[in-house]
Amino acid sequence: MDRIKMVQDYVDEILQSSVNKIERECGYKHLYGVSQACAVLAMKRNENVELAVVAGLLHDIYRYKMHDSTDHAHKGSLLAADILCSIGSFSSDEIDKISQAIYNHSDKTNRNTLFDEILKDADVLQHCLYNPLACVAEHEKDRFRMLKEEFGLI
Ligand SMILES: [Fe+2]
Repeated sequence: MDRIKMVQDYVDEILQSSVNKIERECGYKHLYGVSQACAVLAMKRNENVELAVVAGLLHDIYRYKMHDSTDHAHKGSLLAADILCSIGSFSSDEIDKISQAIYNHSDKTNRNTLFDEILKDADVLQHCLYNPLACVAEHEKDRFRMLKEEFGLI
């Protein structure tokens, strides 16, 4: 089984265990949407696609597993590291890279590594493209404009 599939199976298990149908559906849409946006951004920016997809899948896993969004990026980076350790197929460098991106992903104002920025931008893309006709949140406007520029859309 490939490593992305292993992480998808773990995420599916967490989401399927949620008794709340709306939360479960939101989780599928958001985690898989961010994961796919991570893939396209990593391809475009020559970053590691596999690790970016995994980061997208796990970036909000704390919220969905613990049903708590408080400080979910920081707490989620530890949970993601534990999950990846338990899967047993990722090196410590790979786990650190994914965990760091998750740790930083809620800080959309500052810039971090190129890999970290993929996750932040993918998070924004999923929010903005889920319904492209809806209003873009104020705090995501700058990033979304830069993403549209990057893709030659404006
Ligand atoms: Fe997110």
